[in-house]
Amino acid sequence: MKLIVCENYEEMSKEGAKIIAEQLKNKPNSILGLATGSTPVGMYEELRRMNAEKEISFAEVTSYNLDEYYPLAPDHDQSYRYFMNTNLFDHVDIDKSKTFVPNGLAENPAEEGKKYDEAIANAGGIDLQVLGIGQNGHIGFNEPEDELYVSTHLTGLTDNTIEANARFFASKADVPTQAITMGLGSIMKAKKILLLASGKAKHDVVTKMLDDRITTSVPSTLLKTHADLILICDKACLNG
Ligand code: GLP
Repeated sequence: MKLIVCENYEEMSKEGAKIIAEQLKNKPNSILGLATGSTPVGMYEELRRMNAEKEISFAEVTSYNLDEYYPLAPDHDQSYRYFMNTNLFDHVDIDKSKTFVPNGLAENPAEEGKKYDEAIANAGGIDLQVLGIGQNGHIGFNEPEDELYVSTHLTGLTDNTIEANARFFASKADVPTQAITMGLGSIMKAKKILLLASGKAKHDVVTKMLDDRITTSVPSTLLKTHADLILICDKACLNG
């Protein structure tokens, strides 16, 4: 694992954007795996700037998002499809028909998950996967469990995650209790992984990323076995 420590959130966001820019310069038709949450917002802002100033282009990019709440309509303002449109896709030269987010209204979520993994494989696999991290170490919506899923699947959210994400909804009761998420196997198949973490709240979990152990009770630790993992965090996160 390569660790990059930045002064603050802004620097972390720019560093993350730089790695994506490099990826797009080396391979303009990259398959990007994208993430939501508050952490990558600054990075998407920097990518919008780079795109507006013609430093990078998304014209040939295909993207697959990690996860989506279930059930939730794509036009709901807390859906991850809506998040991606408003934070990135609506503002850059990406072909929206080549941007994919799991269908939060799929009638058959198991089938949706299977098709999602097949589509990624058929597209050639993810070149660069962006990830945030939950306070409990969840990745996408792979929550701490004795056993984790390999493939994209429907999952329940822990109370900890519902609590953490309630800030984006009118009330805790409005947070969906399930989601469709890429599995750890789908994520680990990415050729390169970029994990972002910022702020004190992620200190404990990031500390667990820095020792030599892995456990399904902190799903992010499994990423340590990936051959090309970059963790970018800020000093507040590293030092607590
Ligand atoms: C959600 C998402 C994750 C994200 C996590 C952390 O639960 N499913 O992909 O990494 O929240 O969010 P934040 O970056 O807001 O702390």
